Amino acid sequence: MADLSGRTVFITGSGGLLGSTYVRRMLAAGARVVASDLPGKRADGLKERHGEDGRFRFYELDVSDEAAVEGIFLRVMGDGWEPNVVLNNAAVTGELLTGRGQKFPDLANTSTEDFEKVMRTNLTGAFMVARQMDRHIVGRYPATLVNVASMYALRGPHHGIYDGMPFRNFAAYGVSKAGIHGLTVWLASYWADRHATVNTIAPGAVFNGHSEEFQRRVSELVMAGRMAQPDEIADVMLFLASEAAGYMTGQLVNVDGGYSAW
Ligand SMILES: NC(=O)c1ccc[n+]([C@@H]2O[C@H](COP(=O)([O-])OP(=O)(O)OC[C@H]3O[C@@H](n4cnc5c(N)ncnc54)[C@H](O)[C@@H]3O)[C@@H](O)[C@H]2O)c1
Repeated sequence: MADLSGRTVFITGSGGLLGSTYVRRMLAAGARVVASDLPGKRADGLKERHGEDGRFRFYELDVSDEAAVEGIFLRVMGDGWEPNVVLNNAAVTGELLTGRGQKFPDLANTSTEDFEKVMRTNLTGAFMVARQMDRHIVGRYPATLVNVASMYALRGPHHGIYDGMPFRNFAAYGVSKAGIHGLTVWLASYWADRHATVNTIAPGAVFNGHSEEFQRRVSELVMAGRMAQPDEIADVMLFLASEAAGYMTGQLVNVDGGYSAW
């Protein structure tokens, strides 16, 4: 198991399926965790579960809000904690849009505004967090950034698996996730002489109460023959956030049950 003692991990979108798993697992591995998310039920759940833990703090943060992102590390540091690991995990996901009762129009009916809204959170938000990291963290001490992409970052989705499902794969999702890895490789060389490493994790399809039919369709595309459990993604995220990954930078790590290897 990864040892994260000495790591202070700042996580965006911490209240979601994977973010909340990272919070729980990183606390258990000895890290101090600075969780952040939009206000609401997910944030409240996190605070209820971990609020009593002296190694846990929570900050409301909308990563698409430039003014809020600008101040975030100064606020955290002003409160006495200095993050040396940052996870760009927040994203507008299919699950999130389904939960909000949003429709998934086909491409012909997708507005530029909706496309740009997703890009703003998933890619511009990650850029703005990284820029703050550059200003306040990188160069002061060894630091690590993990950008979260997806199995759909560098490969197209099989659109057919969404037929008849309440959610679909939308263009801005994959486009933003491809961009995330572009950000990783750009930053990896930019920060190399300041002792900061940057990697991308690309999770596969994680089970979150999906129907049997959807699980069957996905499983046929995955060598492992099943969807992932959140802890299986967290196992790799913990490694990337730990000192053990110190000689890795600019890499994209697929944790997708073999989806990308066929
Ligand atoms: N679950 C999967 O199958 C899967 C697969 C591949 C990649 N991913 C990626 O992993 C990450 C986490 O996914 P998840 O499954 O936990 O998704 P999720 O929808 O459960 O959680 C996403 C979180 O991001 C937050 N968020 C959305 N917009 C935000 C904003 N503007 N500012 C701050 N926070 C915001 C949400 O509040 C939510 O807590 C995402 O980047 C997602 O794209 C997930």
